[in-house]
Amino acid sequence: RTIYLKDYKVPPYLVDHVDLRFELFEEGTRVYNSMEIRRNPDADPGQPLELDGEGLELEGLTVNGLPLAPSDFEVTSGGLRIEKVSDAFTLGVVTWILPQDNTRLEGLYKSSGMFCTQCEAEGFRWITYFPDRPDIMARFRTRVEADKARYPILLSNGNDVDRGDLEDGRHFVTWEDPFPKPCYLFALVAGDLVEKRDRFKTQSGRDIDLRMYVEPRNAAKCDHALDSLKRAMRWDEQIYGREYDLDIFMIVAVDDFNMGAMENKGLNIFNSSCVLASADTATDAAFQRIEAIVAHEYFHNWSGNRVTCRDWFQLSLKEGFTVFRDSQFSSDMGSPTVKRIEDATLLRTAQFAEDSGPMAHPVRPDSYIEISNFYTLTVYEKGAEVVRMIHTLLGEADFRKGSDLYFERHDGQAVTTDDFVKAMEDASGRDLSQFRLWYQQAGTPVVDVTDHYDEQARTYTLTLSQHVPPTPGQSEKQPQHIPFAVGLIGERGADLPLKLEAGASDAPRNRVLELTGAEQTFVFHDVAERPVPSLLRGFSAPVKVRYPWSRDQLLFLMSHDSDGFNRWDAGQRLAVDVIQSMLGQPQEQTVDPRLVTAFRQLLSDTDLDLALVAKMLHLPSEAYLIELSDVADVQAIHSARTRVLNQLALELQDELLACYLRNREDGDYEPTPEAIARRSLKNTALGWLLHINEEEARLMALKQFESATNMTDQAGALRSLVNSDFEADRSKALDAFYERFSDDPQVVEQWFSIQAGSPRAGTLPAVEALLEHPAFDWKNPNKIRSVIGAFAGQNLANFHAEDCSGYRFLARHILALDSTNPQIAARLVAPLTRWRNYGEVYREGMRAALEQIQARPDLSKDVYEVVHKSLKG
Ligand code: ARG
Ligand code: ZN
Repeated sequence: RTIYLKDYKVPPYLVDHVDLRFELFEEGTRVYNSMEIRRNPDADPGQPLELDGEGLELEGLTVNGLPLAPSDFEVTSGGLRIEKVSDAFTLGVVTWILPQDNTRLEGLYKSSGMFCTQCEAEGFRWITYFPDRPDIMARFRTRVEADKARYPILLSNGNDVDRGDLEDGRHFVTWEDPFPKPCYLFALVAGDLVEKRDRFKTQSGRDIDLRMYVEPRNAAKCDHALDSLKRAMRWDEQIYGREYDLDIFMIVAVDDFNMGAMENKGLNIFNSSCVLASADTATDAAFQRIEAIVAHEYFHNWSGNRVTCRDWFQLSLKEGFTVFRDSQFSSDMGSPTVKRIEDATLLRTAQFAEDSGPMAHPVRPDSYIEISNFYTLTVYEKGAEVVRMIHTLLGEADFRKGSDLYFERHDGQAVTTDDFVKAMEDASGRDLSQFRLWYQQAGTPVVDVTDHYDEQARTYTLTLSQHVPPTPGQSEKQPQHIPFAVGLIGERGADLPLKLEAGASDAPRNRVLELTGAEQTFVFHDVAERPVPSLLRGFSAPVKVRYPWSRDQLLFLMSHDSDGFNRWDAGQRLAVDVIQSMLGQPQEQTVDPRLVTAFRQLLSDTDLDLALVAKMLHLPSEAYLIELSDVADVQAIHSARTRVLNQLALELQDELLACYLRNREDGDYEPTPEAIARRSLKNTALGWLLHINEEEARLMALKQFESATNMTDQAGALRSLVNSDFEADRSKALDAFYERFSDDPQVVEQWFSIQAGSPRAGTLPAVEALLEHPAFDWKNPNKIRSVIGAFAGQNLANFHAEDCSGYRFLARHILALDSTNPQIAARLVAPLTRWRNYGEVYREGMRAALEQIQARPDLSKDVYEVVHKSLKG
């Protein structure tokens, strides 16, 4: 059944207060739920009361304390219906649930011996009957009862207001959350956990108790998350004027979790891999990811919890805005250019692919079958880009006015993306009506650029034209409002003044052009020489730019553009051009020497920003090259890219070696941007050298592997060896690594994904063997992601084997997982969805795999929606 945005109706009944009591046992959990309900004055009177519920055993139902006769209510497939109710009443529901058997990881479930919850988006209905929609905001009081020895820690949202002992070695704690909230923000945790405490003083002088709860073996892995949290709290005060509002802020780490983390009010729950870190077990990337996710969940306290979504079509209201906020935060904590490169890479590789595939949907979708399928790169990442464009158009000061107005106007409400844009308009006086199309139209806009230099008139004319390609259900599109940042670079490499009128003085050298029409012309005056245009600086809009740069122009931009992002981008475009020109060419075809020279300069220039160099050395990924092709031939792409890499490594051996040695540092581990850049450079150089089986590099890798004092270097050396032809070293290193870290699930997950993602070791039989490994666990999403996800998502040459074995493998496991964890199963379909964009062998194999999945009766809504839409197109 499809749900449509246009069918939205205000809820007929509101819930003001919820009183919950959980009796947690090993055989099951009894939930007592007492709701104060009243008729919504804004809704049509006389409607029945309908509550959502899934997988519940109903044990009792009362109205104002009196049991309801079986004829007074009806238990339906997805809930419970009471035909006649009064205008205000208390509804009591008792349900019995089986958290210990819950493999879906939605609602209340058990993860390594502890109880925990995940209610977003529609998990609360697996706990009790309730109107499970975000525009019902209630005050919650929660009493948790459990065996005291097994579950000494009992948590829920808000403040603990009561606790005590009960009979039979049991105990209870009562929590009260003073802020009304939708039920998707409800959380409960019970377990034998250690508590790490910290404090934060808010700008207004309130003392906040920070508490982190983890399994005892993880006690030493909390510092980074707590430090990140304090930085995020301070940053949100300084940049957005947002202060924390409860007395306690809690973070819990759980091993089995479908997503990264969850912003439950006052009680954030994290996937262990997104919160636990120590230098010897977590890579630099993990440290950065943790900082960003801790901040993201914390920022939700305002953008999501205080102001929430009216319905799930508005998901980007909280996610787009919060991702934008966390990216600003990460940018402020590290290197802004690098952060921008990372965000743009993700967008251009994965979101653009989503936006041009069968699951393409607007940032604010119009319909869905299963909302879990819409926690997408489009809603999150493109949604964040949309907010970023508002920030660019309004400027820092007006954007802040807009966000202040938004929080003030809508505090305690469940609202829409339109309300957000309206607040931005009202605060700034800008008209964003055309801009709203970014929320409504799916697809990535393409901007074609042509230029003309008139030597006589000394004018330079840029003509921009845009079109948005058709997407499923949207064949005709309107032109969008695109902030298009540009610069013009003169012959000597300096930015020229950008005068939109002749004779203007003090012209800026950076301008944001506003493209609103299908085609628009911009004339720059007093331009003394033919410039090279630097287009879409800082990736100012999530669009594709087409301009016929010559390779020489790209080389020029690579070394002269004052915009760091575009320097990197010029390098990427050049590399893409070179790789594409080698597609289907013979083995001995040589690489354009200009690319070699450019990389030599990068490796040797010690004045350059190391972090930028580290990024520039990464060749465009296979996934990006596939995204750029109309009909992808994966094996040809893999082979062309590998040949380029090989030749670069062969030609630049000396420089790579010098770069490796220069950036080998000793001393204490620090995840600072500078140290991270050095390690990244060093490990990239090492990887390239091993790629060409360089003997000296092999010895360096072995040495680094043995003596590394941090996980970045340890895993970097392991990855280089695993991807090399040094068979014996590879297996010895893998065994040693496993031996050392076998009791640490986060490191074992890295060990799995290095193997499953390796084009050499990661052939299908080797990946199948990993699934039989004792550390592999079909109930743990991280393990599934680190083997099956890494294989299908990163090991593209093997996944897209021409005999289609990779596709059959994936289909088989999607089907097996569908009955235990449909959310995870549906995520795994993604690598098959764009089958139409591949060459014939691949295309037919992927389609066959999708058809095989679709043929299964009783598919979950989750998998059904993705497979069905993929086949339909
Ligand atoms: N709101 C969470 C976050 O972005 C993600 C929850 C995802 N849950 C889901 N069922 N898809 O921080
Ligand atoms: Zn979020």
